[in-house]
Amino acid sequence: MRVVALANQKGGCGKTTSATNLAAALAQLDKKVLLIDNDPQGHSTLAFGFRERDFTLSTYDLYLTSDILVEDAFLEVSPGFHLVPAGIELSAVEMTLAREPKKELRLRDNLRRSAMPYDYVLIDCPPSVSLLTFNALLASGEVLIPVDPSYYSLQAVRKMRETLAVLREKKGHDLVPHVLMSDFDTRPLFVRKVMDELDELYEKELLDTIIHHTVRFKEAAGSGVPIVNYDPESRGAHDFRCLARELAEQEVSVKVEALDHWSALLHGPQVTQAGVCFEADFPRAKTVRITGSFCDWSAKGLPLSRREDGTWECHMALESGQYEYRFIVDGAWLPDPHNTETVANEFGGANSCVIVA
Ligand SMILES: Nc1ncnc2c1ncn2[C@@H]1O[C@H](COP(=O)(O)OP(=O)(O)OP(=O)(O)O)[C@@H](O)[C@H]1O
Ligand SMILES: [Mg+2]
Repeated sequence: MRVVALANQKGGCGKTTSATNLAAALAQLDKKVLLIDNDPQGHSTLAFGFRERDFTLSTYDLYLTSDILVEDAFLEVSPGFHLVPAGIELSAVEMTLAREPKKELRLRDNLRRSAMPYDYVLIDCPPSVSLLTFNALLASGEVLIPVDPSYYSLQAVRKMRETLAVLREKKGHDLVPHVLMSDFDTRPLFVRKVMDELDELYEKELLDTIIHHTVRFKEAAGSGVPIVNYDPESRGAHDFRCLARELAEQEVSVKVEALDHWSALLHGPQVTQAGVCFEADFPRAKTVRITGSFCDWSAKGLPLSRREDGTWECHMALESGQYEYRFIVDGAWLPDPHNTETVANEFGGANSCVIVA
């Protein structure tokens, strides 16, 4: 079984178009396919004509309802092709899980408990590096990164590769990346330049198939039917059949490895009976200190001690309440990279946030 997240923090680059049409094209190759809509926008759900009234269980329940598994929540698109739908309720996951341990492994744990009689599992992600996206990446062995022809997109794919490098370096999770040229009208000179740049930068990861620009995708999505069914002779249908064949011909072994260290670092601060343990991973730093609302944002802050593995920690007994903080790493003030809970500060940046019950 190959589990592939479709991710790119840039909005509108073709994640949902790729997830839904690739899933349909793989199903036409007689592959057993599960598509998980992991985006509160619910566009993958809409793309198959499902509305919120058509389902009671959704991806939200895979994260938050302990006895609900994939086999309870899927809708059948066609025999052997299933969809776990999503709606706006999925946006509550981030806040509901804010203080839960192993919150970024919820989806993976659910997939491990579910009966998964699939050849392919595709996970459509929202346009952000959020808890939902981390869950998808940590549940997947591969990531397909759609890139539309713009320089913002080149920047976004670079950011995505940085996220993957962090996942790998922090002891862990080595995703196989695929870069997909999506929504490409290959005639303009500018687009050709983008193609050359992608070729140069991502020679190994760049898929041969190009998904060309065609208005048929919008029409197909509007009718709730994937392009391979809506207009099987169209260029878009041809492109997705090529993509499905290209992926099917690859021999990629997919592993989801143990991620305990990484997951610990992703937790951010650990709140226990004894107080809060702040952890940080700055292996090259000479000093790491912490400052925040608990010490009136003292410029000096409080020191973290260095562990042997290059990570840093400090324990603090804190009364109930909400605290904002930042690390001071060799003099530079930074939010906690392992804590997704942040609040905007008056300087236009973000402070990390921890709640002690
Ligand atoms: N190859 C294409 N040709 C024409 N239009 C396309 C193509 N690919 C995507 N689009 C259109 O571009 C828009 C954005 O595509 P899509 O929803 O797949 O992006 P996304 O990355 O999932 O967006 P979001 O980040 O909001 O989830 C849609 O209206 C879609 O129909
Ligand atoms: Mg989308």
